[in-house]
Amino acid sequence: MVCLGNICRSPLAHGILEHKVQQQQLGWEVDSCGTGGWHAGEKPDMRSRAIAQDNGIDINAQRARKITADDIANFDLIFAMDASNYQDILHYCHTDEERAKVKMILNEVHPGMNGQVPDPYYGGPDGFKKVYDMLDEACDKIIEHYR
Ligand code: 4NP
Repeated sequence: MVCLGNICRSPLAHGILEHKVQQQQLGWEVDSCGTGGWHAGEKPDMRSRAIAQDNGIDINAQRARKITADDIANFDLIFAMDASNYQDILHYCHTDEERAKVKMILNEVHPGMNGQVPDPYYGGPDGFKKVYDMLDEACDKIIEHYR
């Protein structure tokens, strides 16, 4: 799961998918990172931690980190939150096979629409609730699609 800062959107996507994967005993490895490294080492934004906790998901142990080329090689699927993340991730890909791993996460819900998960960083708590609901639906679809 990849966003810009790895403190708001992708930690939620990471926590939500990991929770569903554990509940359904799928044994998938789930991780997240950012295309930017400004927040590396930090916990998720307190608003992301709060909305996760409201939904019974604990993301307090996560720490932000920046994407690496090894992430592209090591993971089977890479989900971008928005079109800017998607373009930035492609710079880390070396082959068509690697580029094919990179998906816009909301295309799991609305195929081919290239919908964006809005960056909630500068808004209020409503933005985090909206993002949570979008990602929850997308993670259900990911499991349906790839299990
Ligand atoms: P995220 O949100 O990409 O969902 O983690 C952001 C968090 C911080 C910044 C940008 C986006 N920032 O510029 O500090």
